[in-house]
Formats: sequence, C-alpha cells, structure tokens
Amino acid sequence: MGSAIESGAVGSDGTVEPERITVADGAGMSGGSPASLPQPGFDLAALIKERTGEAHRLQAQMLNPQLPRMLHTIGFDRTYVRAEGAYMYDDQGNEYLDFLSGFGVFGLGRNHPTVRAALHQVLDAQLADLVQFDSPLLAGLLAEKLLARAPHLDRVYFGNSGTEAVEAALKFARYATGRGRILYCDHAFHGLTTGSLSVNGEDEFRRGFDPLLPDTMIPFGDLEALERELARGGVAALLIEPIQGKGVYVPPPGFLKAAQERLRAHGALLICDEVQTGLGRTGTFFAYEHEGVEPDIVTVAKALSGGFVPVGATMAKGWIFEKVYSSMDRVLVHDSTFGSNAPAMAAGLAALTVLEDEKLVENSARIGALLQAKLAERIGRYEMLREVRGRGLMIGFEFGKPSSLKLKAGWNTLQAARQGLFAQMVVVPLFQRHRILTQVSGDHIDVIKLLPPLTITEAEADRFVEAFDDVMADAHRGTGLMWDFGRTLVKQAMRRG
Ligand SMILES: Cc1ncc(COP(=O)(O)O)c(C=O)c1O
Repeated sequence: MGSAIESGAVGSDGTVEPERITVADGAGMSGGSPASLPQPGFDLAALIKERTGEAHRLQAQMLNPQLPRMLHTIGFDRTYVRAEGAYMYDDQGNEYLDFLSGFGVFGLGRNHPTVRAALHQVLDAQLADLVQFDSPLLAGLLAEKLLARAPHLDRVYFGNSGTEAVEAALKFARYATGRGRILYCDHAFHGLTTGSLSVNGEDEFRRGFDPLLPDTMIPFGDLEALERELARGGVAALLIEPIQGKGVYVPPPGFLKAAQERLRAHGALLICDEVQTGLGRTGTFFAYEHEGVEPDIVTVAKALSGGFVPVGATMAKGWIFEKVYSSMDRVLVHDSTFGSNAPAMAAGLAALTVLEDEKLVENSARIGALLQAKLAERIGRYEMLREVRGRGLMIGFEFGKPSSLKLKAGWNTLQAARQGLFAQMVVVPLFQRHRILTQVSGDHIDVIKLLPPLTITEAEADRFVEAFDDVMADAHRGTGLMWDFGRTLVKQAMRRG
C-alpha cells in the first residue's frame, strides 16, 4: 500500500513514527490501537450500548417515517448488533445469512479484517488528507489498481457514491462529444440525484420530480430503437447497466457488442454503469467483459471500499478527460470536496487486494453457476417459478401466474392489489423462518434478487436452496400462514400513504 502508511505515520516534525501504527487485529469498537481507545468526552461504544433499542423510534421520529412502518409490516424490524462475513446478529442472539449485502456493497462480506486494518492504519497515520491543492498518493495508487483491470481506459475521477459516478459520466460524455442527448434503457437504475434520475427507466422514481433532463429512453436490448435514435442525431452516449439491477435483466446475446459498433459509427460513446455489476459480482471483474466490449466510460462504486466508506469512480478513455480538463482554468470544472479522501482510497486499495488474494471473482463465477443451476432445476417443480437469470452472484428469479385452480385465485388477488406482492410474500418467510435476508428486485415486479457476498461457500448456497424449497412448497399449498400474510400485504397495499 501507500508509502506513508506502509512505513509509518508522519509526526509533526516530519519524522516517521512506525510505532504509532498499531493495527488492531480483530479489534472492536473499544479495543485495538491506542489511537482507537475511547477519548475523554466521547465514547461511541458506551453510547451505542446505552441507546441500543431506540433506532426504529428515532428513524420514525426524525428520519424517513415510512421505513420503520415498512419494516414492521414485513417483520424486518430487528435490532442488529454485530456482523461478520455473510452473517448479521441481532440483540436476541439470532444469526442471519445476508443475501442482500447492503444492496451489493459487501462483496467481501461484512467487516473484512483486512479492510478494517487498512482503515485503522489510515486513521492512525494522521495524513494530510483533503489538502485540495495537492495530488493525494492513495488516489493515484487506487486509480492505478483499477485501471490495471481495464487496460483500455486511462483515467479515473473519484467521487463519493454511485450516483455521483454516473453524474460525472453524463457530464463527461456531453462535454467530450459536444452533444446533448443521452440514451438510456427502460427499467434502468443509475441513482437518484437529478441527473441520474433523468436516465432512470421507472416512472415510480421520476414522477413528481419534473422537469428532468431531456434524455431518451429505449427498450433494453433493442438495437433498432438504438439505431433510430442515433439517426436522429445529437447522441452523446448510451448509458447502460450490463445486467440491470432492477429485475436482473440480462441483455440479449450480442446486443452490447452490436450497440458499441453502432455508437462508434455515429461518434457516440458507450457508458457501462458497473456500480452494481462491477468488481466480481457477475463472475468477471467487470460485467462488460462477458460481452466483449470496451466501453468508453465505466462507473463503479458500492463494493469498491469493502462497504466501509462511501466512494464512487468514473473511469474513462484519456481523450475524454483531456477534453473536460483541457486547460488550467478548467482544473476544478468537475470535482467534489470529499472525492479521493484517504479513508475511501485506503479501503479501496485493501478491498481490491482482498478480491485478488481470496480469488473472489472466481468464487462468484463458480458458486453463482452452481446456485443458478440448482434454482433453475426447480422451474418445473414449482408452477409459480418462471425463470432464473443473472450471472455470477447476481441472480434473479421471476414468478408468474399459476395454472392450477387452487393457486389462481390467491395469485389474482395479490396481482389486483399490487404486482410484486407474491415476491414479497416469499421474501418474508425466507427471513422470518430461515433468517436469510433477500429483496424484491424493484417495484411492481415479481422478481427476487440475490446479491450474497462473493465469499459464500457451496454450503451457504445449499442452505439458501433448502430454505427456498421449504418456502415454495408452502406457497404452492395455496393456504396457510403465508397466504394469510399475503392478505395482510393486500390490505396494506390498498391502504397506502
Ligand atoms: C447500477 C447502479 N448505478 C447507480 C446506483 C446508485 O448508487 P448510489 O446509491 O451509491 O448512489 C446504483 C444503486 O443501486 C446502481 O445499482
């Protein structure tokens, strides 16, 4: 890792003090290096101990009021006190297997010791971080490590989140091409700030936030629609997730490659949003590698810092940066105060090292293929299971209308109230009965998405399949607690607000 940190902390007189860097191996909140011991006036561990149990009340009173309501309705209102790897633990001592990974940030599992150690080190090094008029070493090193995985790209911009990485990509594409139009796909999700929202393919998110940027939506995987829009002119770029997060839609074979050819012919760019799919999630380092394309701009975030520090990165070809940052007057033309901060960069360097050392990209490909195959075997067995799709450890399964009479009525009632309730009805017993956390993959679709840590073993994949069998067998009986709960969901959906 970086020299100052590797060799010791720099003291106030400029000397290096190696003994000040005591890595807290396995240290918790109140243990570890002298620097991380509670300081007079503030003791975080004591504060958490004293106030544990108040989180949902505080959320309801002072933060998002709907969150605790929703958590209570589906019985997810637990009090988690600890997490490690693929597991979280509540205040009752229950263990939960995490197949959601904080929407994909815990690719390495939770609280990975190597990333924690890097964070202890970076804090204890007391670096001169965020000088602003300086070139931070750790940002250069992380850029170097990221670009080594995308040799056709030359430069990186670091921001603080996925949506910021996308905002930078949109601005860079427009400026570099001198064109205004961005094409995006239906069902697309690229974040919720205004620029990213303008290229969001779901009305649910957009409604009421108009006017947004005047971008153009095309159907995901539709080459003719892409051609048509390119022919109209003024297209700066197509922005696309190589596998869509909402619904886990995989593009038709050859689409991205053909799209890249068409875009190039029209002088337009291909931007791949790898915020969710990147860093091994789909069994290759970047998901675009499955498609044999070389995007002009690539965005990453989520798993990049091992789940500890918000971070986002926009990687691009050199000529794009050279246009955007074309003169000294334009040095800060796109920037963010906390971008390239040392904790994020150090965590990123450690996370990428773990990804390599533990061969997590390979594990994602291997366990993902096994898990998908086992789930796909069940399509004939359960009439409401329609499709299993995805790549690596980004897996979606879709439910559909049953053919048997005993199930049809229940299914129709759920669909009439709100599409997606059946998938929710499956997520809930997976959690309540089997203590496995999953999610419904978007609004109004009966798709469940699995995003487990890339560290999971075959035994953990099998544990999921067994739990799934139990829940699906129950659902296919057409009566019982699960369907009672379905009726509760219907009542809630009718009430809304
Ligand atoms: C593909 C994609 N892009 C962008 C984002 C936005 O990331 P963030 O929530 O960090 O802003 C997400 C978040 O889920 C995403 O999946």
